[in-house]
Amino acid sequence: MLPAVMLSGKRIVVGIGGGIAAFKAVELVRELGRRGAEVRVVMTPAATRFVGPVTFTGLLGRPPVVDLWDPSYAGEVHVELGDWADAMVVAPATMNVLARLAQGQANDALLATLACARGLRLLAPAMHPSMWGQPATQRNVETLRTDGWHFCGPVDGPLANGASGVGRMAEPSVIADALEAALAAHGGAIGAAQATEDLRGLRVLVTAGPTYEDLDPVRFLGNRSSGKMGFALASRARARGAEVLLVSGPVALTDPAGVTTLRVRSAREMHAAVKSEVAKGVDVVIMAAAVADYRPAEQAAEKIKKAGERALELVRNPDILAELGAERAERATAAAHDTEPRSPTPVLIGFALETTDVERYARGKLVSKRCDLIVANEARDGFAGDTNRAHLVSADGVQSLDTMSKAALADRIWDAALRLRSAAQLPTATGN
Ligand code: PMT
Repeated sequence: MLPAVMLSGKRIVVGIGGGIAAFKAVELVRELGRRGAEVRVVMTPAATRFVGPVTFTGLLGRPPVVDLWDPSYAGEVHVELGDWADAMVVAPATMNVLARLAQGQANDALLATLACARGLRLLAPAMHPSMWGQPATQRNVETLRTDGWHFCGPVDGPLANGASGVGRMAEPSVIADALEAALAAHGGAIGAAQATEDLRGLRVLVTAGPTYEDLDPVRFLGNRSSGKMGFALASRARARGAEVLLVSGPVALTDPAGVTTLRVRSAREMHAAVKSEVAKGVDVVIMAAAVADYRPAEQAAEKIKKAGERALELVRNPDILAELGAERAERATAAAHDTEPRSPTPVLIGFALETTDVERYARGKLVSKRCDLIVANEARDGFAGDTNRAHLVSADGVQSLDTMSKAALADRIWDAALRLRSAAQLPTATGN
């Protein structure tokens, strides 16, 4: 199935800072175009040393804006572009760009256009890990977040110069997802000042990926979960200001920036990690992991040898979500005897992965696991890709959503979590 064209009709300015990751901006421009956006480009003079302006002229049919003093521009090009754009994405946003933005400078075409931008503004930082780790950079990022700028990345991984660490620019498709999600969350183009960190003050836990149940030192039972849905939930929660814990099974994804990521292998390890974090107090739990219901009754210490036919005996794994639901129900019963009973935290959101009768099974899981919301999806829509199609099933009914990026769906799920919290008038786990 072809992914839906999610940025159709949107006018996006891609700003390019002077870093080696500028070469990936070419793919970002193409990706945004593939998703239906009309794209224009602004570059810093340093960016032109990494990627030639003529590349963008070739791709877009018009040259990028580099020099505000270029006599070929009629009028004030930075004001016109800032007015024109529904959103601006800076990729890469270098240490220098972040510093100048945090100070409110407008001393080149990129910064002047950003200063005039009326739409959403998203920064995709990229720099050497030691530059990202500088206290000054972190202060600048905090200032920009507070001022309402959106961020995507940087991520942990190998850099162009062979080093490795947090500082690598997010992949172009991930930046495009983040842009879509930010636009969807705010109903289209918005001013940066309206961008909210509506999850700030909340401590949330997300699970992601498959679990592996070992048969012997070389074989395991697993499933096709890539972790993308859970990682999108974690990234979007962080972007919206939450303190985020991500408990992930074995996946090939890099840890999302700013998120505390705990890696586990089996369902029992995930169970232990989730229980221990929930005991410390969390406001929302979202279980996107595809947890194995069964594990081999025995795990062989040595590789199992061929010996005719074999039957595999399986035993049940703990049902993590059902256990959290049962414990919360017990606390609710206890609280009912208090003078001022309040529904106990956390808000519990599970997924239901089905191949048939999605809504019916999801309603069953909502009741049997005693959670507040089930995100029901079909295996053919949910696994591995960058998009998903889901039904949000709660006691109030079913909301069926169109196919969208996993980042956009993550935002819809966090919106639902906030609605559930406010309906129950819940305090925060941290007492903020
Ligand atoms: O990772 P991706 O490739 O992006 O794919 C995303 C996804 C398809 C894995 C995701 O969207 C999804 O559907 N995750 C839930 C998969 C699943 O295990 O569904 P289930 O219907 O079997 O389980 C219902 C719920 O109970 C889930 O929230 C699950 O995390 C939880 N569970 C299940 C078994 C178990 N032993 N403990 C649990 O907590």
